[in-house]
Amino acid sequence: MLVVLGSINADLVLEVEGLPRPGETVLCPGWRLAHGGKGANQAAAAAKLGARVRFLGRIGPDPWGPVLREGLAAAGVDVDGLAPSPRPSGTAVIAVERSGENLILVASGANLDVSLDQLDGAGLGPGTTLLCQNEIPLPVTLGALGRAHAAGARTILNLAPASELPSGALDSVDLLVVNEHEAATLLGGPREAEAAAAALAGPARTCVLTLGRAGALAVGPDGGWRVPALPIRPVDTTGAGDTFVGALAAFLDLGLALPDALARASVAAGLACERLGAREGQPERAAVEARLGELGPPVPFAVPRGS
Ligand code: RIB
Repeated sequence: MLVVLGSINADLVLEVEGLPRPGETVLCPGWRLAHGGKGANQAAAAAKLGARVRFLGRIGPDPWGPVLREGLAAAGVDVDGLAPSPRPSGTAVIAVERSGENLILVASGANLDVSLDQLDGAGLGPGTTLLCQNEIPLPVTLGALGRAHAAGARTILNLAPASELPSGALDSVDLLVVNEHEAATLLGGPREAEAAAAALAGPARTCVLTLGRAGALAVGPDGGWRVPALPIRPVDTTGAGDTFVGALAAFLDLGLALPDALARASVAAGLACERLGAREGQPERAAVEARLGELGPPVPFAVPRGS
């Protein structure tokens, strides 16, 4: 079982000719509502791939709340742990340009009220996984990872959006997933990809570094692995990282080895970019397996020493 403790948002998506620069006003014909939030996106991705998923989060007393709940339930996620908050539901404004690149602003709202006691009765222990992101208060995330780790569950942290961490915060993390910007924030500056992942891995911790069009790599106790990205023409990259993380967590929770899970997560993330919206393009397992051959097998590499 996979437990996701995290954010859920209403995404207001605007398709624009070009993303605005600071101080610029950009017009577009309209907007549409989509299901979002990094936590909920990851939970939905994992459930669509066949994992048993429980989501723990908060929604506000507004019309978005029931819509967000129903959207996540429709993806196959257990939403009994979605609790009320007096603040408005989390909301994101997302501008997407023709190239598929995006710009995202998030009003956290109800996500700020996600609390550690929501883990009570979640059933975390050996054979289960806790997955967290960085869109709820950091002390809650770190407290949850600590509790899950102590209970014997696998713990996964996707540190998105980027932030620094207090010292020792990664001690309770079995798998850290970051992109290059998030890795640079943690390391105090940019490094070559394999060296960055090696620096963030630990004796019992794996670091997965996502590299956008260049795929992803992992460094863990058993060495290093690299997988390419799926060759695609992106329509919208919003939530591609969330699909990657949700898929990785799902496949590990389902018992796949890290290189196999990594390759499938890369395929799932690519497929998610072929549709507009953070969740609309999230694939089912059969679609991932059907495109896996386009990637080639994961490639091992020697982990740089002294990183
Ligand atoms: O990663 C994409 C997500 O970031 C969007 O769905 C938005 O809600 C923000 O949380």
